[in-house]
Amino acid sequence: MDSPFKSDVLKGKVALLTGGGSGIGFELSAQFGKHGASVAIMGRRKQILDDAVSVLRSQGIQAIGLVGDVRKQEDAARVIESTIKHFGRLDILVNAAAGNFLVSPENLSPNGFKTVLDIDSVGTFTMCHEALKYLKEGGPGKGPSGGGLILNISATLHYTASWYQIHVSAAKAAVDSITRSLALEWGTDYDIRVNGIAPGPIGDTTGIRKLAPEEMKGDPRESMPLFKLGDKWDVAMAALYLASDAGKYVNGTTLIVDGGLWLSHPRFIPKEMVKDLSRVVEKKSRKAPTGVPTSKL
Ligand code: COA
Repeated sequence: MDSPFKSDVLKGKVALLTGGGSGIGFELSAQFGKHGASVAIMGRRKQILDDAVSVLRSQGIQAIGLVGDVRKQEDAARVIESTIKHFGRLDILVNAAAGNFLVSPENLSPNGFKTVLDIDSVGTFTMCHEALKYLKEGGPGKGPSGGGLILNISATLHYTASWYQIHVSAAKAAVDSITRSLALEWGTDYDIRVNGIAPGPIGDTTGIRKLAPEEMKGDPRESMPLFKLGDKWDVAMAALYLASDAGKYVNGTTLIVDGGLWLSHPRFIPKEMVKDLSRVVEKKSRKAPTGVPTSKL
């Protein structure tokens, strides 16, 4: 699908995306690139990064791949330094690296719990921490949106509670909290905007393959308000809005891109019954409740 944004909304910007070699992270890298940004993508697997970089370059995007694990502070620092060395600046940091698997709490080892928090929550903080000195510089080309921007990819699992996702729910709750704290503190001190995006089920991603495996019975779309999976494109457009000057007054929010799924509940009365049932109940309630004299009503 074509983008509704002008192709130069991120012209001159440099973006570093963790988890940028695949899934949602890759789509964000490609869309940022198509809208004028140079992109550095970080991930653990060299082959995936190499493949992603060749696809990006074949689309005329200035891109580099940097191998690193967000769980290691030295990797975070090295990748950020390499980005600066190559592109000379850093305007946008996207924390898209994440770990996930379905597991019941009793079958999840404390190390499994910790592993996901280390990637999603601590990894996000580490990248922000190491990138601060460059993001706050602003530098030439600083637009009306001020200094740098951080975008944290989150989820909606923790708004209520989600089966078999205790680790990810805890991790993303921490990510949202980091988004708000940094929006307050770094927005005030350094003019850096910090926002998040909470995607729902997005088709053709590792997330959907892991969380709604084909082996599962039933069609997960049955319970969705918009009755469809999202596209990676939907998340990328939300990211473009937040990263461009269109989002210059948006700070500390996590934009939900899930078609309304997190609001959904099973319908408890069929729609055809609601009107009649409601009239019957209304009539009944106008009659005197048993035992109460009408004079007292
Ligand atoms: N069920 C239960 N526990 C699991 C698990 C599963 N499916 N997969 C991993 N774990 C546990 C391991 O048993 C281990 O705990 P232990 O030492 O107590 O046994 C712990 O998690 C770490 O596993 P390990 O495989 O050593 O970690 P890793 O660093 O190689 O991989 C993961 C990290 C587990 C998060 C892996 O799924 C990953 O790399 N994911 C990245 C991609 C991804 O998930 N994307 C989805 C985005 S929505």
